[in-house]
Amino acid sequence: MVAAAQPPLPRSLNNEGYHTHSFEPHSLVRPIALVTGASRGIGAATARELGRRGYALVLAARSADELGALAAELNRGGALALAVRTDMSRTNEVERLARIALAQFGRVDVLVNNAGVGGHGRSFARMAPEDMQRMLAVNFTAPMLLTRALLPPMLERRSGAIVFVGSLAGRVALPGSALYSATKHGLRGLAQSVRREVKGRGVRVTLVAPGFIDTAMTRDLRHVPKIGTEPVARVIADAIDRPQREIFVPAYYRIGVLLDALAPWLGDAVLRLIRR
Ligand SMILES: NC(=O)c1ccc[n+]([C@@H]2O[C@H](COP(=O)([O-])OP(=O)(O)OC[C@H]3O[C@@H](n4cnc5c(N)ncnc54)[C@H](OP(=O)(O)O)[C@@H]3O)[C@@H](O)[C@H]2O)c1
Repeated sequence: MVAAAQPPLPRSLNNEGYHTHSFEPHSLVRPIALVTGASRGIGAATARELGRRGYALVLAARSADELGALAAELNRGGALALAVRTDMSRTNEVERLARIALAQFGRVDVLVNNAGVGGHGRSFARMAPEDMQRMLAVNFTAPMLLTRALLPPMLERRSGAIVFVGSLAGRVALPGSALYSATKHGLRGLAQSVRREVKGRGVRVTLVAPGFIDTAMTRDLRHVPKIGTEPVARVIADAIDRPQREIFVPAYYRIGVLLDALAPWLGDAVLRLIRR
């Protein structure tokens, strides 16, 4: 039987799909952060911010070239970065990511659950079931599994931090984003519950909820004000040492969230107007 041809790996990746480095022992004194969805957008900005702050990094995403280029840029700048090509919609790849990170560095001090698939303007009634499954897997199941894999050693050491990147849509359910909103509501529940469960046991948990950020995900949203990725990256990096229940970026979105919770009819009316 002839084996099916595999797509060639980029030259910089080994057969396992990740870059190998001989990390010097001094790398182990650095805190180690794993950032998912690091190939672009908020994840790449967070990786750069953490690199500047002295972290060694494990970077995960599917786009091997972008990921490899970012790892090379960080390594040139003196940070230590390992790129691990990972499809977060596949359970075995998520588990493999956790295994590689622990095997290469011995521990993970910080997990940034950032990878996500956007869904604005996608009519729920017309969404393909496969797209629904993928969105659920990347936005909710993958952070759940990765947290499950990396939390126990953090609890054992009584030290660590987990940042979940949720969304404004995890508080205000947006029309045209039903499944995206649902995954981010679920992620919020997971983050808040885990935070309460581990409180006082050395692991700090924060939910960062961005509003509209200028990335590939919001490219088609032309009529909303957006901010750049750097402020979000700084908020994520700050939350590692100064955890909070939930941080909105920009902070003024908290007002909209409060209004929608107190007067949902007002939220309905405002969102109807915005949609026109
Ligand atoms: N932009 C906003 O306005 C906004 C607002 C609220 C919340 N957020 C959240 O912020 C996070 C980052 O989004 P972003 O704005 O930076 O979007 P982005 O530029 O589209 O980046 C998304 C990242 O997720 C990764 N990703 C997507 N599917 C993946 C998969 N199957 N396996 C592995 N990685 C995957 C992408 O990498 P590959 O494609 O290379 O795999 C990419 O690195 C998401 O969780 C998003 O929901 C964004």
